[in-house]
Amino acid sequence: MSDILTLIQERRSVRGPFDPERPVSLSDLQQILEAARWSPTAHNMQNFEILVVDSKEVLARLGDISSPASEVFIRENYDQLSFSEEELLQKKVGILGTMFPAAWRTPGAKFDEVARESGPSFLRDTIKDSPTVLIVTYDSRKRAPASEGDVLGFISLGCAMENMWLVAQSLGIGCQIMSVFSGNTVEKETRRILGIPEYMRTGFAARLGYPVASAFKYVRVRRNVEDFAHHNRFGAKLTAVDVAPNAQR
Ligand SMILES: Cc1cc2nc3c(=O)[nH]c(=O)nc-3n(C[C@H](O)[C@H](O)[C@H](O)COP(=O)(O)O)c2cc1C
Repeated sequence: MSDILTLIQERRSVRGPFDPERPVSLSDLQQILEAARWSPTAHNMQNFEILVVDSKEVLARLGDISSPASEVFIRENYDQLSFSEEELLQKKVGILGTMFPAAWRTPGAKFDEVARESGPSFLRDTIKDSPTVLIVTYDSRKRAPASEGDVLGFISLGCAMENMWLVAQSLGIGCQIMSVFSGNTVEKETRRILGIPEYMRTGFAARLGYPVASAFKYVRVRRNVEDFAHHNRFGAKLTAVDVAPNAQR
């Protein structure tokens, strides 16, 4: 039990560079995909098709896709940011604004400037030196029974995401989710480059690799259990003992 909990606590988003000389081996990939295979899905629909991209040429083509941030993203992203470690430690939710290009975290920045700054090189910089990218797709013509907006289908994709992420973590392989691949021109271009049928949509994408030793570590925060657990009635505290500090790097 403690091993799985430790693994869960140590799983993290790796936003720094990966070692370009260390590909993810086929046997490790197989274990990561095995974790997806046995993930729980609504009605056991197993509603995913996973594209493993490790061709340098194809990765370069994905990196060349222009990915300007939308106005909505910039606005709603801003709401989740903290602007100092102290602020983040106090809030216990959200992420550090310094991870994003300066214009993304400047209130009132002109949207054109933001788009220019985040535009052409954003995806290239993210994918650069990533030996493997997973594109996790689902069939938009289907849904979990009576699931409005296929919420249950999306939850199922999340289960596959977490299973794969934990196994990657256990193998020492870093992972970063890249939401930019879902639901915009990046999704469309990716579909074209990878020959994905029109009816398949991208649930999420993740880059995998071995983080370089010098990779920048940042503060990660969590609420305390008693901040979100309610006992028998909404608002009634469950006095819980946290088994790890609520911040780590
Ligand atoms: C559905 C989903 C989408 C995410 N999209 C991104 C993303 O586009 N880029 C990124 O760097 N991290 C992304 N993340 C990672 C979260 O930002 C991250 O899990 C959260 O900040 C907690 O940090 P940790 O993973 O280091 O514990 C995503 C996570 C989930 C579950």
